[in-house]
Amino acid sequence: LYSIADNRKTILVTGGGGYIGSHTVVELLNRNYSVVVIDNLSNCYARNPSEKPESLKRVEDLTGRGVVFYDVDIRNTAALEKLFQIHSIDAVIHFAALKSVSESVEKPADYYENNVAGTNNLLQVMKKHKVYCIIYSSSATVYGEPEFLPLTERHPTGQKLTNPYGRSKYFTEEILKDITATNSEWRVILLRYFNPVGAHPSGSIGEDPFDIPNNLMPYISQVAVGRRSKLNIFGSDYPTKDGTGVRDFIHISDLAVGHLRALKKIFSNKFKGWKVYNLGTGKGYSVLDMVKAFERASGRRINYEFTKRRPGDISAVYADASLAKRELNWKAEKGIDEMCEDTWNWQRRNPNGYR
Ligand code: NAD
Ligand code: WQD
Repeated sequence: LYSIADNRKTILVTGGGGYIGSHTVVELLNRNYSVVVIDNLSNCYARNPSEKPESLKRVEDLTGRGVVFYDVDIRNTAALEKLFQIHSIDAVIHFAALKSVSESVEKPADYYENNVAGTNNLLQVMKKHKVYCIIYSSSATVYGEPEFLPLTERHPTGQKLTNPYGRSKYFTEEILKDITATNSEWRVILLRYFNPVGAHPSGSIGEDPFDIPNNLMPYISQVAVGRRSKLNIFGSDYPTKDGTGVRDFIHISDLAVGHLRALKKIFSNKFKGWKVYNLGTGKGYSVLDMVKAFERASGRRINYEFTKRRPGDISAVYADASLAKRELNWKAEKGIDEMCEDTWNWQRRNPNGYR
């Protein structure tokens, strides 16, 4: 599947110390890509300032391969310039962003500055150095309230978005589409992730929120390990099979592999302009389904209580993932039991995450 020439390519991974980035770096290294990571350490743990994040040290142990790391912010033009001079980059996988929905409501300007202006800055430097291949981490959030399900890539985007985080993802998508119209050299793939969960099966890397988790799976697993007393389930009166929200949860390793398939596509001679793909399983599971699956996987009771709906939440969101199957030859392989087993394996081995 991967030619030797492909695998000698050098990939710049922005935000590579974070949850999705670190798991993607594992897959890149396993396929012999050279990997350069930049991360400003705003949402990943390093023992000392500017040191390689703990996640990447573990990735190196796991794969037996090295990662070049720089503590660089995507908004820092001078530092990016230097990096593109030192390294001959073939493509960029761009994860670096702030990602808390609630924080984005409090600090919208920070989100636009970091996610939108930051990306624009990265693109300017890429162009100057004639690096035109980029894979961008977008989100199902750009679809807003679904007009139909499952969500295909043709579903309208940018309508009824309820928070600045979601808009920052949408605006960035639009910038990326616009630049391909001005210069035919650009090769852009937008990947719209649904709900990434789970951890590498080794249990040595996983999701490690700095604060109280916003997202369901890390919250459940912190309840299971005794860090939190109970899960609040936001809403029991949604028009779903059991009244709780329904999402398309996707195993992080499947998601990571999706980036490898996108790279393959972007490097193929035929590719031009931009393409967008959903990365999901195509199946929706409710919050209660996930609680039960986690209880099976961990053998522990998950204490929970129903509370009121969380503002901005949507009743059900799941993907039509058939385009990625057809065009990237990618499909998610792992189900919710493996997602919960691997989350639990990571959580019980690392009750306090990387610290
Ligand atoms: P994460 O916070 O774990 O990783 C992002 C990394 O980027 C962090 O290590 C952070 O320190 C770094 N970073 C942030 N701003 C930076 C900047 N200005 N310069 C350099 N580094 C910076 O988040 P994640 O879950 O791995 O998400 C990765 C990407 O995927 C983000 O773009 C996010 O919007 C997108 N996404 C995530 C989800 C999800 O549920 N996790 C869903 C859809 C899309
Ligand atoms: C899932 C379900 C909650 C926590 C968010 C972003 C989205 C994307 C992924 C980045 C919902 C319920 C949750 C809790 C709960 N991120 N829940 N108790 O909201 O689908 O998506 O993360 O792009 O943009 O919006 O994920 O994990 O927060 O919630 O009952 O403590 O779990 O109400 O139904 P969401 P989530």
